Amino acid sequence: MFVCVCKAISDKDIQTAILDGAEDMEAITRELGVGTGCGTCHDFTQELIHQTLAAKLSYAA
Ligand code: FES
Repeated sequence: MFVCVCKAISDKDIQTAILDGAEDMEAITRELGVGTGCGTCHDFTQELIHQTLAAKLSYAA
């Protein structure tokens, strides 16, 4: 599913970037350009970062 329509970035693209070390909104924006268009994807991207990091941490524990 596309999260950022402006940049054609999917939830999988964002999750992959997080798992590769881009662990906050600034890093995701720098890596993928998410949120640099209309900005409507910002809140969902933040939530996706939070959820993916929580899963990453629980998997590592
Ligand atoms: S949907 Fe992400 S910047 Fe517009």
